[in-house]
Amino acid sequence: MQIKSAKYESSAISVEKCINTDKAEFAFIGRSNVGKSSLINMLTGNEKLAMTSSTPGKTILINHFLINNEWYLVDLPGYGYAKRGKKQQEQLAQMIKGYILRREQMVNLFLLIDGNIPPQRIDLDFIEWLGENGVPFTIIFTKADKSRKGSFGKSVKAFLNGLGEQWEELPPHFEVSSAKRIGRQEILDHIDDILTSLAADS
Ligand code: GTP
Ligand code: MG
Repeated sequence: MQIKSAKYESSAISVEKCINTDKAEFAFIGRSNVGKSSLINMLTGNEKLAMTSSTPGKTILINHFLINNEWYLVDLPGYGYAKRGKKQQEQLAQMIKGYILRREQMVNLFLLIDGNIPPQRIDLDFIEWLGENGVPFTIIFTKADKSRKGSFGKSVKAFLNGLGEQWEELPPHFEVSSAKRIGRQEILDHIDDILTSLAADS
């Protein structure tokens, strides 16, 4: 898969307000600050496409980016940012969950996990919720460049081992660094595989 064009199309406050299209879309979710928006920029080769910040809680809407005029990447707000007020946290949770459960053309969710910290309860609970709701997803371990003394590999292994205790089969998973542009082609090829299998089914 090559990226020929990537353009911002819209921002919505709820799934009901999202653009009306039947093109396939791939969405990015994970804890605030895990690197969702940065990964979208790395994949598309445009550092200014999605807004990023070193402070958690930057993305607060459902943002659609049209790729190659054929399919969408969707940047979602993160979960688990404790400094937000309760009301806003609840609103964002509704926005995220509403999108994931009701957006029919969302063909695959990329769940981003920080590969430099021990497994977090909030991420494991989120995966359980995805499983209960039959949402197709892929795990992406982020910030591989921040590894100290193999810490990245160790955390990834611990996470997958924990998951293996609950799941018969592990979901597809990748390791990336947006800062060092590691893992780009693997993710794009994975997207290509999904689009190809969808076309074969229809
Ligand atoms: P929210 O929109 O708040 O949910 O965050 P997000 O998941 O979109 O994170 P964002 O892409 O804004 O990145 C958060 C911070 O992590 C920024 O300071 C990025 O520069 C940094 N970051 C993202 N990806 C990487 C990476 O691969 N390596 C390193 N070292 N830092 C990264
Ligand atoms: Mg963001």
